[in-house]
Amino acid sequence: MTDAPDILSPDAMHSILEDIETNAFRRIGEAAGLAELEPLRIEYLGRKSRMSHLLRSLGGLAPEDRTRLGARANEVRKRLEESIREKEAALKKAPPKQALDFTLPGAPVPRGAEHPITRTIHEIVSVFERLNFEWVSGREIETEFYNFTALNIPLDHPSRDAFDTFFTRGGNLLRSQTSTVQIRVMEKRKPPLRVVAPGRVYRPDTVDASHSFMFHQIEGLMVDDRTTFADLKGVIHLFLRALFGETSRIRFRPHFFPFTEPSVEVDVSCFICRAEGCSVCGQKGWLEVMGAGSVDPAVFQAVGYDPRKVQGFAFGMGVERLAMLRHGINDIRLFYENDLRFLKQFA
Ligand code: PHE
Repeated sequence: MTDAPDILSPDAMHSILEDIETNAFRRIGEAAGLAELEPLRIEYLGRKSRMSHLLRSLGGLAPEDRTRLGARANEVRKRLEESIREKEAALKKAPPKQALDFTLPGAPVPRGAEHPITRTIHEIVSVFERLNFEWVSGREIETEFYNFTALNIPLDHPSRDAFDTFFTRGGNLLRSQTSTVQIRVMEKRKPPLRVVAPGRVYRPDTVDASHSFMFHQIEGLMVDDRTTFADLKGVIHLFLRALFGETSRIRFRPHFFPFTEPSVEVDVSCFICRAEGCSVCGQKGWLEVMGAGSVDPAVFQAVGYDPRKVQGFAFGMGVERLAMLRHGINDIRLFYENDLRFLKQFA
């Protein structure tokens, strides 16, 4: 374009000016740096530019064309010079592109928090950790041996029925209690033992406000050469008072579990009504919170311990139930629905 013929016709001049008007100003405006602006200045205003060529050709035009096109060309040239000057000044003043404004508020990062079930597990385990219990875990897919047989649950016991346990096609099952972990730990280790085992358990219950096909339990086991029922009572007292308050009263009721003998169900005085009777405790004044007992000799035999040489106790509790009691939650399904309006209350 710089090698244009010597003499331009008025039409050619007209289209040059037209082109400058539509493109030059836009390109100058878009220049992102001084290095992009200088070539534009040369292209539009340089000695070999079409503008210079046009101005030089004016002399050969008829007088009316010369006046009209000359005035227009000078006006466009002036505006070009001005626009380049302004752009140059703006680019020199502009801060470098990567500059950061440290005064801008940061993008908010939402804070995560423990799920109320996880938090309850941590609270419970931390009480037992102060008593030197160790956190252990088992597995969720188990065999009949760990879920039943080794726990002294006879073949004809109703809980072995498919109505109370999820069985897999391969003959395994989803554990229905964390007592399985007692067996797994005792098989691998020798006494003395103090362990707590939190984890998920599964039962084919119809889901409602107080039942779920999956929930959490915490199992506890202590074995030593002399660990009596009095030790069990002491540990449970300490634990429940830490969880429900130092003024709580604790009650042991005789019960039956195949893997403990004797066995008890443990109640804590209702912390809402202080055992007066209210809707949380069903007017009874007491809340049933766990099962426990001295380890049955048959269980020791199943893991190869000599029942004449060791003694122990075990206990188990439902995490959801304890969390619901402590926080006044009336529907177990709230734990699994992932509704932040519910979960945020525990953050
Ligand atoms: N495994 C029992 C249950 O699921 C609870 C329990 C554990 C009872 C340990 C006694 C000892 O109900």
